[in-house]
Amino acid sequence: MSHRILLLPGDGIGPEVVEQARRVLVATARVFDLDLIFDSADLGGVAIDRHGDPYPESTRLLARQADAILLGAVGGPKWDTLPAAQRPERGLLAIRSDLDLFCNLRPAMLYPQLADASSLKPDLVAGLNLLIVRELTGGIYFGEPRGVETSADGVRRGFNTDVYDETEIGRIARLAFQFAQKRNGRLCSVDKANVLEVTMLWRDIVTEVSAEFPEIELSHMYVDNAAMQLVREPKQFDVVLTGNLFGDILSDTAAMLTGSIGMLPSASLNAESRGLYEPVHGSAPDIAGAGKANPLATILSAAMLLRYSLDEGPAADAIEAAVEHVLNAGLRTLDIASSSADAATTEAMGDAVVAAITSLS
Ligand code: IPM
Ligand code: MG
Repeated sequence: MSHRILLLPGDGIGPEVVEQARRVLVATARVFDLDLIFDSADLGGVAIDRHGDPYPESTRLLARQADAILLGAVGGPKWDTLPAAQRPERGLLAIRSDLDLFCNLRPAMLYPQLADASSLKPDLVAGLNLLIVRELTGGIYFGEPRGVETSADGVRRGFNTDVYDETEIGRIARLAFQFAQKRNGRLCSVDKANVLEVTMLWRDIVTEVSAEFPEIELSHMYVDNAAMQLVREPKQFDVVLTGNLFGDILSDTAAMLTGSIGMLPSASLNAESRGLYEPVHGSAPDIAGAGKANPLATILSAAMLLRYSLDEGPAADAIEAAVEHVLNAGLRTLDIASSSADAATTEAMGDAVVAAITSLS
């Protein structure tokens, strides 16, 4: 069976890191005898430049046909002065919404080889391995009404709406419980139920769904406390379930715990497990085109793509093992190297992972 993979290189370092991940996928396909068909399209700033739209129709058509999508990153200073509705980030929000990618998985795990990179004390983060499950197509990011308006007396007023219905909460909660089943059986749901009605409903629905998963240990935490606990004792968490805005914030904190945001992959899935996979890091325009970017987050995103959308677990395992192998061998891109003199280029890192896949399998 063939699988269609759409590449969306995007902006900044996106094209460089996606290219290395594509090479790794091609090498993996050869070893595991997979039939992968690649397409490529524009999203973000590059799409604004070429099509006048951050999520153009040509991209939408290919995205809807794809079994899975691999994205680099979007955005950069070039487009920062555009009005909100025309910015590269809107392309990302539009594709999430168009494909109903409501389930965002953001694992944060500390590679023992990189323990020194964390800004927290090594014993607080050694062995850290948590999963943030962020609702991605609802909440205040998409709620209506929204806007900035000027009243009759000339005073401007900005507003957004935080809204979730019970269906949206129930479907993401169910998936989070299922992920907890495959992990250590603990789920912490993060809300602000002491203040916000929408998250009071969130807490009620998550509690209702928990009846279907009696073996999972469910806890609830207010978001301010969760932010504190993440930097105080991060290993208390296994799966963290939360809404769109809180998930945006807490996932950056969780990423930083590992000290190497250049290592972290993510997946955004819909109900049919079709998904968009992207590194957690951004477009890093300051180093774009310089061969300095770490491609491992995108390569690990490609592994998630094989696991979750193509159901090719062994091929995903092989990529993750190859990444471990190159780290053990001491290869480091600039972001994780101890000195710039020792840093490997983006391409050299890609070469090493490709070689490891071929030799280990
Ligand atoms: C993320 C990013 C996006 C978000 C931006 C770029 C729209 O911060 O994926 O976390 O806020 O969701
Ligand atoms: Mg974010």
